[in-house]
Amino acid sequence: METTSSSSSTSSPSAAELISKSKRKEALGWMEWLRGWLYVIYEMLFQRILASHLQNPLPLPPVNDLTCIVTGSTSGIGREIARQLAESGAHVVMAVRNLKAANELIQKWQEEWSGKGLPLNIEAMELDLLSLDSVVRFAEAWNARLGPLHVLINNAGIFSIGEPQKFSKDGYEEHMQVNHLAPALLSILLFPSLIRGSPSRIINVNSVMHYVGFVDTEDMNVVSGRRKYTSLMGYSGSKLAQIKFSSILQKRLPAESGINVVCVSPGIVSTNVARDLPKIVQAAYHLIPYFIFNPQEGSRSTLFSATDPQMPEYCELLKADDWPVCAFISQDCRPANPSEEAHNIETSYKVWEKTLDLVGLPLDAVERLVEGDEVKCRYGAQEE
Ligand SMILES: NC(=O)c1ccc[n+]([C@@H]2O[C@H](COP(=O)([O-])OP(=O)(O)OC[C@H]3O[C@@H](n4cnc5c(N)ncnc54)[C@H](OP(=O)(O)O)[C@@H]3O)[C@@H](O)[C@H]2O)c1
Repeated sequence: METTSSSSSTSSPSAAELISKSKRKEALGWMEWLRGWLYVIYEMLFQRILASHLQNPLPLPPVNDLTCIVTGSTSGIGREIARQLAESGAHVVMAVRNLKAANELIQKWQEEWSGKGLPLNIEAMELDLLSLDSVVRFAEAWNARLGPLHVLINNAGIFSIGEPQKFSKDGYEEHMQVNHLAPALLSILLFPSLIRGSPSRIINVNSVMHYVGFVDTEDMNVVSGRRKYTSLMGYSGSKLAQIKFSSILQKRLPAESGINVVCVSPGIVSTNVARDLPKIVQAAYHLIPYFIFNPQEGSRSTLFSATDPQMPEYCELLKADDWPVCAFISQDCRPANPSEEAHNIETSYKVWEKTLDLVGLPLDAVERLVEGDEVKCRYGAQEE
């Protein structure tokens, strides 16, 4: 990998310029916060009705020619996504931190599938999002194959409900690292393969909880003491940061790159995401199946976004209209409008710059990679 300069080569306004024009916001306004929670409750109560037009499982268009990487595919929504894509004929790479669990799943799926067609084209590779070194190693190993990547599904995520604040070995708040920083780094480092697979897509499994999220761009790790940390703040802020970063990424990607970025809400889904809840709350969570989707239902919006033939056109349309946010697909597979805060383009540019800095990439990484140049990342040198 070659060293690059860290100056931006585009004419986009610098974050500092944009921020200086307005007073820095330090939290969601109470009306925004209230509207956000009303939206979350509405989704929870009515998601099944809103998605009643969808079949389950969702029928997919032909995917035989697609190579898809699915992060966090040993559990919940990601596991369903990986299985359905593989059974529909795609080449699936399960990017996971627990290789043993992934290989056991692959064996189980192959056995269940035997006699129904050709063996599934599925494999597992190691990726631990709590380590940015691991992200770089994964991307280098994948790019070294010199093959195409058509769909990257950033699904892996954590919501450590009620847990105290924790930091990765890279020094970042864990929700921010696993749900936003590491997927952002992975997406950018995989550009050479995504360009080879063009037209290609980056699908980020986001959440309705971003509606109550806020990102303090001066304090993305929530360590300044200005705000009291809660896991809800960590989770919702990381999901909002992902939408903001994705929005700027989509803007900066030239149409010729053929890469589009989509954020998706899977709905409220019964998975292991509630593993940290008290046992009694977990029991209640699993006892309300009418309201909560099962993982197969929760996989539909992501599978739709990953395979719908019109999705690239929709993304390009938003870009042509100078829409401030990237495509956001709701749990019912319809385009939706992300939160008011997600539309704040000034802080989105700031999140963009901060993110690239935190993950150790130069500000012009995207432009250089699209031009076919190599880019050096601060992480990935040492083996664990
Ligand atoms: N469930 C919901 O109601 C809901 C709602 C909105 C959004 N989402 C989003 O949907 C996505 C999938 O979550 P889920 O509900 O399916 O939860 P889940 O069952 O807990 O699955 C999460 C997956 O992420 C993986 N993962 C966690 N930390 C990782 C790390 N450091 N490195 C690599 N992989 C890691 C887990 O691996 P292990 O199997 O090894 O633990 C697991 O496979 C997440 O982004 C979540 O935020 C979920």
